[in-house]
Amino acid sequence: MAEDRRVIYVTSALPYANGDLHIGHLLEQIQTDIWVRYQRLRGELCLYGCADDGHGSPMMLKAEQLGISPEALIADMKLAHERDSRGFLISHDVYHTTHSEENRTRAEEIFKRLSDAGYIYTKRVEQLFDPEKKMFLADRFLKGECPRCGAEDQYGDNCEKCGATYEATELVNPRSTLSGAVPELRSSTHYFFDLPKLQDFLELWTSSGTLQPEVANKIREWLEVGLHPWDISRDAPYFGFKIPGTEDKYFYVWLDAPIGYMAALEHLVAGGNAPVTFEQIWNADSSAEVHHFIGKDIVNFHTLFWPAMLHAAGYRTPTKVHTHGFLTVDGTKMSKTRGTFINARTYLDHLDPEYLRYYFAAKLSPTTDDIDLSLADFVARVNADLVGKVVNIASRCAGFIHKGHDGVLAAKCADPELWQTFVAGAERIGPLFEAGEFNKAVREIMALADRANQYIDAHKPWALAKEPGREADVQAVCSLGLNLFAVLMVYLKPILPKMAEQAEAFLGVEPLSWADSGRWLGAQRIEPFQALKQRVDPKAVAAMIEAGKASEAAPQPAAAEARPTKLEDDAIISIDDFTRVDLRVARVISAQHVDGADKLLELSLDVGALGKRTVFSGIRSAYAPEDLDGRLVVLVANLAPRKMRFGVSEGMVLAAGEGKDIFLIAPEPDAEPGMPVR
Ligand code: 2FM
Ligand code: ZN
Repeated sequence: MAEDRRVIYVTSALPYANGDLHIGHLLEQIQTDIWVRYQRLRGELCLYGCADDGHGSPMMLKAEQLGISPEALIADMKLAHERDSRGFLISHDVYHTTHSEENRTRAEEIFKRLSDAGYIYTKRVEQLFDPEKKMFLADRFLKGECPRCGAEDQYGDNCEKCGATYEATELVNPRSTLSGAVPELRSSTHYFFDLPKLQDFLELWTSSGTLQPEVANKIREWLEVGLHPWDISRDAPYFGFKIPGTEDKYFYVWLDAPIGYMAALEHLVAGGNAPVTFEQIWNADSSAEVHHFIGKDIVNFHTLFWPAMLHAAGYRTPTKVHTHGFLTVDGTKMSKTRGTFINARTYLDHLDPEYLRYYFAAKLSPTTDDIDLSLADFVARVNADLVGKVVNIASRCAGFIHKGHDGVLAAKCADPELWQTFVAGAERIGPLFEAGEFNKAVREIMALADRANQYIDAHKPWALAKEPGREADVQAVCSLGLNLFAVLMVYLKPILPKMAEQAEAFLGVEPLSWADSGRWLGAQRIEPFQALKQRVDPKAVAAMIEAGKASEAAPQPAAAEARPTKLEDDAIISIDDFTRVDLRVARVISAQHVDGADKLLELSLDVGALGKRTVFSGIRSAYAPEDLDGRLVVLVANLAPRKMRFGVSEGMVLAAGEGKDIFLIAPEPDAEPGMPVR
C-alpha cells in the first residue's frame, strides 16, 4: 500500500570508535535530531540511523596500546557513545556498528557488484613500510624533514612550516612514528575503484539539487580538475573486513563506513519493529528519501565516492547531503589546554543538554559557515530567551489561573487577532525547519515570545487581580498567555523535546503535534506550575571548563582518517597560516585554451625574481585569452604544484565571482611582477 506520508531515512556521520564524543559531534547530532523530530512532529515516517565507525588502523593501534582486542575497544566505545547521545536527547531509531555482519555482507555484495560491472581493478603501489611493526604506514604515521624547506619533524603529507604538500616517499630521513624505525619502500597490490568512469554521473548528480549551492560549487571545481581512481584496500595488519578472495587485503575503512548507513537500517529491520523494509529505502527505484548530515571535512566521501558507489552498484543515491561547518569555542579551535575540548560527558556532568540544543539551533543555518560556541553568549542567550521569554510567559500566567479559577482555563479567546498571528507562525516556521534554517526559525519563535510578553505587560493581570470584579478578565488574559505559550512549545518541540514534555504535563495535554499549533486549549484544567527551565549558572560553565582541562580529552580522530586524498578541505586557519601564503604580483605573458577543459585557461606568468610559472585557471567563462596578455594578476606562489590532466599547475591566480561574472583580482597598474602582495 502506498504511504500517504513521506518516508525518510536520516543519518549523521558515524563517529569513530576510538575516542569519546565531544560537542563537535553533538553539533551534528543535534542538527540532525532537530530535523528528524520536526519531520516526525509533522506526521512523516522519519527514521534516524547512526552507528560507530569501528574500522581502521587507529582502532587497531589504540586497542594495542590499551592491551585489549579491537573488538573489546569498539564494544565499550559504542556503549559510551550511545549513552552520551541519549544524554543529549538524540532520538536514534537505531545505533549500530560498522563491525557487524550486516555491514560485512553488504560491503562484500557492493564490492562484488562493482567488480562485476567493471569498476574495480588492481595495481601495484609503492609505499613506506615499517620493518619493525611490519605494516605499511599511512602519512600520519611518518615524520621526517620537509623535502621543500628542510624543516624537521614534519608529517608524511604536508609541512606545517612552509605549507608544502608532498608524497610521503619524498620525506627526507623519514621515520615511523609508531616504532621510530627507518621505513623501507615496498610495493603491494591495491584495489582501486575507477571513479573517473563515473565522472558524467557525478556531474549530473552533484548539480541536481542534492547539495547546498556552496558545496555543489566546490565539488564542481574538483570535477573540473578531474577525479582520481580511489584506493579502497589496505594491507594486513588492519582492523576491518577482509576482501573476499584475498588473504591479506582489507577494505579501507572509508569503503565500508558509509555502507554502515545501510547496515544500520538493515539491523533495525532485522529487529522486527521497523515500519519499513530495507528495499523500500535502498532500492534503485525507491520513492523514500535518504538524507545524510555531515561535516564539511568529509564532503568528498559523501558527495563523490558514496553516491558513485551506490549508483554503480545499482542502489538509489541520497536525496540530500546536508553539510555543516566546524565548531569553534570562543572563536578558536577546541583546545584541551584552554579546557574548550568539551567531551559530551563533561558537558552533561555540568549542564542541561537542552541549553546546548537551543544554542546550536539558534546558530545553525544551511551553510557550511563555522559555528562558534561563545560561552558568555551561550549563558546570556539561553537565560534571556528560554528563561526570560518563554518560561516567563507560563510562570506569569499560571498562578492567577490556579488562584481564582481552580486551575481552569477560559473557554474563549480574548484577542483572536493575536492568537491568529501565533497560529499563522506555523506557515513560516515549518519551512524554515525543513530547510535547515533553524537560526531563522528560532528568531521567529522568539519574536512571537516577545509579542506574548508584550500582551501580558499591556494587560497587567497582577494589577487586574487587585481590582474587584475583574476575575474573568484576569482569567481571559492569562488563558490567552498560556495558549500562546502552548503554541510556542509546539514550535520549540523539535529543539527542546524534554521541556515540551514537561509543558505538556503542565498544560494537561497529550503529546503535542505540529497541527496542535492551531488548537485552542479551551476550558481545561492545568497542573500547578513548576519551573520548566532554570537559568544557566555561569559557575557551572566555569566548572565544566576546568573539568575539560583536567580530563584526558582524545584528539579528534576524524582529521587523520578524513584526508586520504589530496583534495583540499576547508580548514580553520590561523593568522600564522595565512601569512605563510605567499601572494605575488604576476604578469600574464600569454594565455591559451586547454583542449578538453571548457572551463580552464592555461596562463604563462612572469613572476619577476621568482621566474616563470604555468597556471591552469578556471576563468575561461569570463575571459578570452587575448584579453589577458600583459595583464597583472595576483598569484599564490607557494602552493604545491598540482598535477592535472593537462599538465602541472604551479600556483593559483586569485579571482572572484562565478561563470560569466568571474573577475580577476588585479594589483594597481604600476605594480611590478614578483612584488609580494600584503
Ligand atoms: O569522519 C568521521 O568521523 C568518520 N568516522 C565519518 C564516517 S561517516 C560514514 F561515511 F560512515
Ligand atoms: Zn617545509
